[in-house]
Amino acid sequence: MAAAAAACALSRKRQLQPAGKAMRRGGRRSGPGGEAEEEEELEREHFRRIINAFRYYGINMHERVNRAERQFRSLPAIQQKLLPQFLPHLDKIRKCIDHNQGILQTVVNDCTHMFENKEYGDDENGKITPASTFDMDKLKSTLKQFVRDWSETGKPERDSCYQPIINEIVKNFPKDRWDLSKVNILVPGAGLGRLAWEIAMLGYTCQGNEWSLFMLFSSNFVLNRCSETNSYKLYPWIHQFSNNKRSADQIQPVYFPDVDPHSLPPDANFSMTAGDFQEIYSECNIWDCIATCFFIDTAHNVIDYIDTIWKILKPGGIWINLGPLLYHFENLANELSIELSYEDIKSVILQYGFHIEVENESVLTTYTVNELSMMKYYYECVMFVVRKPGSSV
Ligand SMILES: C[S@@+](CC[C@H](N)C(=O)[O-])C[C@H]1O[C@@H](n2cnc3c(N)ncnc32)[C@H](O)[C@@H]1O
Repeated sequence: MAAAAAACALSRKRQLQPAGKAMRRGGRRSGPGGEAEEEEELEREHFRRIINAFRYYGINMHERVNRAERQFRSLPAIQQKLLPQFLPHLDKIRKCIDHNQGILQTVVNDCTHMFENKEYGDDENGKITPASTFDMDKLKSTLKQFVRDWSETGKPERDSCYQPIINEIVKNFPKDRWDLSKVNILVPGAGLGRLAWEIAMLGYTCQGNEWSLFMLFSSNFVLNRCSETNSYKLYPWIHQFSNNKRSADQIQPVYFPDVDPHSLPPDANFSMTAGDFQEIYSECNIWDCIATCFFIDTAHNVIDYIDTIWKILKPGGIWINLGPLLYHFENLANELSIELSYEDIKSVILQYGFHIEVENESVLTTYTVNELSMMKYYYECVMFVVRKPGSSV
């Protein structure tokens, strides 16, 4: 297959950074002269934009609650009297917002130094400016990602999404046949890093990679700043004003982290890298295993992801995937988005030369579900394990 035989560009060498240290920030390969500087400035601007979004959260949410109060006060007095708990409930939400804002502030406090190879300055005089609805939505999703990855509440979800992947890793790289510390596993689109962390806990060398600064700031906080279990709390559901059975459901706290992220064995080899998976990883035949969870549908063109995975896997290495196909760019104007069915993806995978070893087209899972909500989304995910032919080392 032509694509499979295509030459690999030699990437800058990526070094594994243990958790507890700064992570490396990748970026586009530098272009000539001014192009690289322009690129740097854009990156810096993006960095400041996301920090600003973290700081703007409270303002945005207080506006939302103030709107709810105005609407309520516009009702006839006789109707307002029927609901004596309504305004006190809004006051409780306000307290939760302030609490969440405090956590978000802590999260961004040390992120200007979080990359070992880049320093970013703070924004001008710390002035907070309105963030876009898009960024606010991303931030609210990130708060829910804390539940999925680092709370007891998220355990059923992790059991349905991460455990099948972990089972396949253990099955394919058993400790009686492999020196686990020499098995290199990559988790692209690692979110807040729990799956990658769990894999490293088992003794494998594992690297998570993540592109979003919302996720990176937050995973930096959990992995490097949290140690006492359940010492922090968040109110992840206060943004949800619909589908609450009880008012109290909206202000349910969730505690994190459910485990001490520093409890990795001293010789564990765990790291996170920052940047676009396709730009960072171009060195051929490096990984024994690539584990993608709810990731492949983040591609503009999923064939590019398959191409990268094919190249960077060692011969004999495996790709484990679990997730739906909710294409992230489908509804974004001016963005390339190739929405392939699973049938088409499978056909491409086979044409590359992968051998399918496991395939399950109906793994029932949720993604950052609010168990208390009257509305829940379920995904019937596809899970597969495919092998790049060749002998494993
Ligand atoms: C749907 S989330 C899944 C996160 C995690 N794997 C999980 O199962 O909870 C997809 C993640 O992939 C990240 N992502 C998207 N495109 C990426 C890229 N090109 N390189 C690295 N990460 C990317 C997103 O920022 C997001 O955190």
